[in-house]
Amino acid sequence: MNGKRILLIIGGGIAAYKSCELVRLLRKQGASVRCVITASGQKFVTPMSLAALSEDKVYTDLFDLKDEAEMGHIQLSRQADIVVVAPATADLMARMAAGIADDLATTLLLATDKPVLCAPAMNVRMWTHPATQRNIATLRSDGITVLDPDEGPMACGEFGPGRLPEPEAIAAAISRMVSNPAHPELVEGSSFLGTEVKGKSAASTGSAQSELLKGTHIIVTAGPTHEPIDPVRVIANRSSGKQGFAIAGALAEAGAKVTLIAGPVSLPTPAGVTRIDVETARQMEAEVTAALPADAAIMVAAVADWRVDEAPSKLKKEAGPPSLNWQKNPDILAGLCAAPNRPKLVIGFAAETETAVEHATAKRLRKGCDWIVANDVSVDKMGGEQNRVHLITDAGTESWDRMDKTTIARALAQRIADALA
Ligand code: CTP
Repeated sequence: MNGKRILLIIGGGIAAYKSCELVRLLRKQGASVRCVITASGQKFVTPMSLAALSEDKVYTDLFDLKDEAEMGHIQLSRQADIVVVAPATADLMARMAAGIADDLATTLLLATDKPVLCAPAMNVRMWTHPATQRNIATLRSDGITVLDPDEGPMACGEFGPGRLPEPEAIAAAISRMVSNPAHPELVEGSSFLGTEVKGKSAASTGSAQSELLKGTHIIVTAGPTHEPIDPVRVIANRSSGKQGFAIAGALAEAGAKVTLIAGPVSLPTPAGVTRIDVETARQMEAEVTAALPADAAIMVAAVADWRVDEAPSKLKKEAGPPSLNWQKNPDILAGLCAAPNRPKLVIGFAAETETAVEHATAKRLRKGCDWIVANDVSVDKMGGEQNRVHLITDAGTESWDRMDKTTIARALAQRIADALA
């Protein structure tokens, strides 16, 4: 992000303290940051801390005549490469959606001609309220990028979506937005355009990164499923969800509308991705069906093949080893491949511990998917950062070098874009 100019608007919420960390991170990555803080933001962090971290003046007041003479709000919002609102409170986004300009922050948001990124933070009920969701839909249709908030315990004591995305995730989203794909020399740290897979350039189409999958809808499943045994116990597996989340992120980065249906994992939602959390295979199947139609589906989840009849109350040790009544779970991938509204491209994943390519080749034909990505989990343990995968299509098998999961995801996104073009 060397030399990029970021105008950071800090709204009033407890998460405002994270904006200090964001300023530090952005500066470390070579960007310059100019801060504007709302009146309520100043109840949580002081302009002085932000001035120290940004090494620049901090702007607070629309009617600061000296600054209006030297630099009006229009210049302030236009001299930046991007305007970032973090934390974006429910109130601030409501005023943005309505086009209200009653303070410095909202005035320059209305006056800007630059891309705008909002990183929301609020109480879970405020986030799920139809009014907030309506405002977010309005902002998105106005071309503003609104990140999904993180999920977890909140300062207010409740649990759910509403936490400010981590500063690293916001910085990554800013980096993607300020990268200029028309000029790859300006693209910060982008391995995407130059990913080499078996001698083929992943950038074979030469299209801009954010345009590759524009107009497509892609479903991704990720993570494990949990099948309840009783109210406190589940049958689980070791899937971390990292590969599926990386794929969802890479597809969104390439411009696709992505629905990520995730089993129980504690990973942050990648920027620009719509996430639906599920627990069991049957819930995952229902959400996949509800997400159709789609142009492609990538089934990365490690779905439990079996479930048991759930005991209504906790099984007690004194009763001896429980006898579990096993039931077969639906095969979501096979069902999707046989569905009348099957996506044009369906991709399965196969984590194998022996003869990965052989097993996965048979699995592709058995399940009826177009491609299958096989990985040998006896070599790269589940949950690691790297994978060595084999892409099996009707044209044969390509064995890719061992790469980190993000690079695999980006290379796969490129191949998907080629197949859907
Ligand atoms: N899959 C699915 N529904 C299931 C089981 C698997 O959709 N009930 C999908 C996975 O998401 C993956 C692919 O099928 O894309 C292969 O999963 P895997 O567990 O390797 O296949 P299984 O059919 O379970 O075969 P096996 O356990 O015998 O290896």
